[in-house]
Amino acid sequence: MARISYDAATAAAFKAVRELPRDGLAEWREAVERHLRPSHGMTVADIGAGTGAFSTAFTDWFGVNVVAIEPSAAMREQIPERPTIQVLEGDARSLPLADESADAAWLSLVVHHIPDLEAAAREIRRVLRPGAPVLIRQGFPGRVGGVELVRWFPETARTVDTYPSVADTCKAFATAGFRREALEPVSETFAGSLADLLGQLDTFRRADTTMRPLTEAEFSRGEERLRRAVQETEGAVSRQPRTNRLDLLVLRR
Ligand SMILES: C[S@@+](CC[C@H](N)C(=O)[O-])C[C@H]1O[C@@H](n2cnc3c(N)ncnc32)[C@H](O)[C@@H]1O
Repeated sequence: MARISYDAATAAAFKAVRELPRDGLAEWREAVERHLRPSHGMTVADIGAGTGAFSTAFTDWFGVNVVAIEPSAAMREQIPERPTIQVLEGDARSLPLADESADAAWLSLVVHHIPDLEAAAREIRRVLRPGAPVLIRQGFPGRVGGVELVRWFPETARTVDTYPSVADTCKAFATAGFRREALEPVSETFAGSLADLLGQLDTFRRADTTMRPLTEAEFSRGEERLRRAVQETEGAVSRQPRTNRLDLLVLRR
């Protein structure tokens, strides 16, 4: 069970506010390319692919084939149809892939939804070729100082604190035979202004696992913080790019 239900309303909300514009992902492109070392025809397993934002980015950037594995039918329906993307129903603990058939695994904002990370790591090892990397894009406990929502809604960090830490994740993957290769913060830029974020807060609340558990008071305080930031600067801040920073954790078989 994921922490939230990725039903049709959540999938639509996720598509509307959580996908990053391609030009906001320049640092991710560079960082992933360095560790993936892509070659034409390579197969990347996008595990918990969601609405396919990274599946499409990887095929566009690197010319690779992507197998987008996603348990939620509503999220799968949002994945664009492309000859280079094969969309499959599946779960990290039971991947619909043959042994040693993939050249890399990508898990973006997924590890906290996987109930048994060690079992998932073993399953990921089964499907990866020797030497293949696992690339994890994640907000880890204690490392969310650059996360935009935490800036306005500090109580969202409370939920992140319940996620697997870097050490927990490395340990789970180590038991399956992976070694830690790199951990690096990567910045990304959202489309739209702070005023746009203010207008989209209800949609964010539906689409984000850390926003859902906020109390009404916590949500209202964050909304007010954001409203003041937009007003007090007479729009100057609202025109600045909205940045976010997550980690890229790389493990290798
Ligand atoms: C926050 S979304 C991230 C989607 C996408 N990776 C992205 O970054 O845009 C988390 C996704 O993980 C999926 N998920 C939840 N539990 C999972 C599991 N056990 N195995 C694989 N994916 C899972 C959800 O259905 C959802 O689509």
